[in-house]
Amino acid sequence: MQSSMLEEVIDNPNPYPVVAEPRYPEVWQLCLQARELAWDPAADIDWEELKNADLPPDVRAAGAEWWSLRAWMEHGAVPYGCERLRDAVFQHLPFEVKQHICNFIAEELRHHEASFRIAQALDDYQPEPRADYFKTIIPKFHDEKVEKAMSFYAGLAVNTLFEQLSGELLQVRYENARFPAIKEACRLILRDEARHIQFGRVIMRLFFADISKDEKVALGEKFAAKLRGSLLNGVYSVVNLPAEERKRSAKQRALAADWGIGATHPDEEVEIIIDAVGRIRGEVAEYDVPIPVIPEIEGPREAAE
Ligand SMILES: [Fe+2]
Ligand SMILES: [Fe+2]
Repeated sequence: MQSSMLEEVIDNPNPYPVVAEPRYPEVWQLCLQARELAWDPAADIDWEELKNADLPPDVRAAGAEWWSLRAWMEHGAVPYGCERLRDAVFQHLPFEVKQHICNFIAEELRHHEASFRIAQALDDYQPEPRADYFKTIIPKFHDEKVEKAMSFYAGLAVNTLFEQLSGELLQVRYENARFPAIKEACRLILRDEARHIQFGRVIMRLFFADISKDEKVALGEKFAAKLRGSLLNGVYSVVNLPAEERKRSAKQRALAADWGIGATHPDEEVEIIIDAVGRIRGEVAEYDVPIPVIPEIEGPREAAE
């Protein structure tokens, strides 16, 4: 091995003690549920029916584009989880915290797999966005500098707020799905996401009493910034997309939603996000975490009321 390669390998500076003592029984409960409710996107879902369904080619293409986007987003959670696992290992956090994060990584990868299998059954999975705009947006989904600026549990809590938001959108996509394979994939993904959201609630309860007021304000701002900066740009909703891509993307989504491909109609997405952000704001207010108004989705509406 070349010495330059050796230099890149960062040793864990202090491998001991390897903690085995459980500290958070609620987190361990989530780990046990994850073991019991594990599923296999390849084997547990019948893809043949979707492959053979009578669907026009433009609907198949729109559905494949939509589920490719979903696959990229699920995959985006994997590098994020890897960084958190690295932190948890280096900080010698309790076993159940490391186990939960391992589960999180495996589950997000499984959501990615289920999503690209839907795209493949419909048409072609797109390994990368065709629109240049999306190519620049997707990598911004996870910014390690922003994550590192927060304390470990506070950062995890912010992430789970996004899980809550995407869970609300996924619920509507589940209801939209008319094909058994898509419906089952959505149901199983939702079941995993419920545990990720529950983990967020547990850590907020355990750790939010101890974080400073300034950090709480920063958390609310980070939530709003991420929502505005990347997720409204064609990921959760098309509202912040440049006009041309917004039109094209919205048309494709509407087509997929009209045919029950497990998509959300662009017109309903904003309403779902407004409701979900309102609920999340109420939940974190209990811990004095203020979430600023999101002008793109809440501004004009609030002004009108
Ligand atoms: Fe997921
Ligand atoms: Fe998740």
